[in-house]
This record gives sequence, C-alpha cells and structure tokens, in this order.
Amino acid sequence: MKKILRKFLPKKLFVIYRFIKKQLRNIPDSEQVYFDANSVYEGHFNVTYRGVRALKCPFDYVMYQMLVLKMKPDLIVEIGADYGGGALYLADLLDLVGKGEVHTIDVEDKVGDLVKSHPRIKLFLNGWQKYELPKNFKNVLIIDDGSHLYEEVLGALKKFSPNASYYIVEDGIVDELGKFKNQSPIKAINEFLSGNSGWEIDREYCDMFGKNATFNVNGYLKKTK
Ligand SMILES: C[S@@+](CC[C@H](N)C(=O)[O-])C[C@H]1O[C@@H](n2cnc3c(N)ncnc32)[C@H](O)[C@@H]1O
Repeated sequence: MKKILRKFLPKKLFVIYRFIKKQLRNIPDSEQVYFDANSVYEGHFNVTYRGVRALKCPFDYVMYQMLVLKMKPDLIVEIGADYGGGALYLADLLDLVGKGEVHTIDVEDKVGDLVKSHPRIKLFLNGWQKYELPKNFKNVLIIDDGSHLYEEVLGALKKFSPNASYYIVEDGIVDELGKFKNQSPIKAINEFLSGNSGWEIDREYCDMFGKNATFNVNGYLKKTK
C-alpha cells in the first residue's frame, strides 16, 4: 500500500500522508523519527574526518568506499579541496587499496598539515582550469566538488572526461533544495549527457538508498564506451 501511494501521490501529499499516519499511531514527540534532504544537508556541515572538515553526504561516504575499493584507481582527482577532509578520506581508502594518488585542487589554501603530509596527497592551488591530468595514470576517478557553477561543472566535464574512467559530479542536491541560485550541477550533467558523451548515469550508486538518496543527484557517471 505504502509503495503504491509513494508512486502515485505527489511528494508533498505523501509527506502529509506519512505525518497523519504517525499522528494516528500516537508516537510521542520525543520518539518521532524525521529527517529529509534538508536536514541532512544542514548536518553535513558538521562532518569531520580524522578531525578535518569533510563536506560530504553520509550516504556518499559509504558509496565512495565501495567505489574506490572496487575500482582501485591509480589517480583520484578531487576538484575542491576545502580543508582537505574529503581528500584525506580518499587517500586513506587508497592506503587500503595499496596504491594510487589523490590530486586535490583548490583556488585557496585552507588545508592543514595532517592532509598535506599524507604521502598519497598532492595539493594544487591554481584551480582545475590550470591543472593538467598527467598521462601516466590509467584508471582515473574524477570528483568535481568545486564551485558547482553550471559553466564550471560543464567545463570540467568536457576537459577531464575523455581521460577519466569514472566521474562524479558532486552536489546536484543544491538544485533540488534551491540553495544557491547560480549553482547548477544537474543542468551541466544534462547538457553533457545530451551530446554524444559516451557516459551515462550510474543508477546503482545514485539510487542505492532510495531515488537519488545522495548529494550527487544523477552525479555518478560511468562510461558507456
Ligand atoms: C564544497 S568545497 C569542497 C569540499 C571538499 N571536497 C570536502 O570533501 O571536504 C568547494 C571548494 O571548491 C573550491 N573551488 C572553487 N573554485 C574552484 C576551482 N576553480 N578549482 C578548484 N577548486 C575550486 C572552493 O574554494 C572550496 O574550497
């Protein structure tokens, strides 16, 4: 019954239906469970990894470790280092794999010594526009967690996808939540895929915990050729 209602009721009506059902069950306020994309988004600003701010959705941490351990990349390029918590997490995963480097890119240096001293991490501070992919890495994972501006996301996709093995465009959730007017990773993904890109959305990851239960809405991209 719930599945049918979820499928056919508009999202807002389904939320109201769930609310009324809970009220009827008389669950005390303190025992209510309620979270949604908005609350997870607000919470993710508090996440640290080994004490370093690491701005990712909790679901995506789980999927990243699955993907990295499966893919065993030689190189992970992260656009957008911020404090470096994400890069540190990825580098520690590569330690488990036993090989690989993380190139993390930003336009300003907020990264502390713990991250900088990790033997697998190299920091580049001139933005993705001035970073060139080295040719000696075969299996390359690109993660775009930079400005999220439509033009930049599309520009990076066009620049790096020809030499990437897998590509993650982060934070399409900002489109869904209407957070920042000029940011639109989803528009960039749609435009990129509408051409003959040779890439498609990897629904296995996007939908693992529910339809696009990720901050990277339609942002896990795999090669089709
Ligand atoms: C959302 S934060 C990155 C969070 C980080 N990946 C993590 O997991 O904690 C976005 C970062 O992108 C950086 N950024 C903005 N424009 C950029 C560009 N052109 N190239 C690389 N990084 C950029 C910002 O300075 C900011 O630190």
